Amino acid sequence: MTSSTPRRSPTLAPDLRLGDPTTDTMHEEFVVLLEAAASATDEALLAALDAWAAHTKQHFALEEAWMEQMDFGPRHCHAGQHRHVLRVAGEVRRQVAEEGRFDMGRQLVSELREWFAWHVRTMDSLMVESLRACGVAQAV
Ligand SMILES: [Fe+2]
Ligand SMILES: [Fe+2]
Repeated sequence: MTSSTPRRSPTLAPDLRLGDPTTDTMHEEFVVLLEAAASATDEALLAALDAWAAHTKQHFALEEAWMEQMDFGPRHCHAGQHRHVLRVAGEVRRQVAEEGRFDMGRQLVSELREWFAWHVRTMDSLMVESLRACGVAQAV
């Protein structure tokens, strides 16, 4: 069986698109950088994790700024998930850099795929609904 249906994105699954261009673009970049880490050689893994982390810190900071701007009720829970992921990723980065634990780096990448899908469908989805309702300008 062949499929001629064009894909909307080779990187962000359609069911993870929330319909907000700024958010979807940011999420696509998250996936691109995560997949780059997934396919990186051991020698390139640390740089790939660092590129993902640099993006993710900005991505999370922007979402947190939007949530503060609209005084979004669940913002502390949402931001807490962001902080937890960055904390775990930082610890795994240390293990890769100092102990050569490339297996831990690859496990992190694998688990981040699942975490991200869940986070987008729950936390980010609620946030985008609220952004629409509040009409918050998203260029910070
Ligand atoms: Fe997000
Ligand atoms: Fe988020």
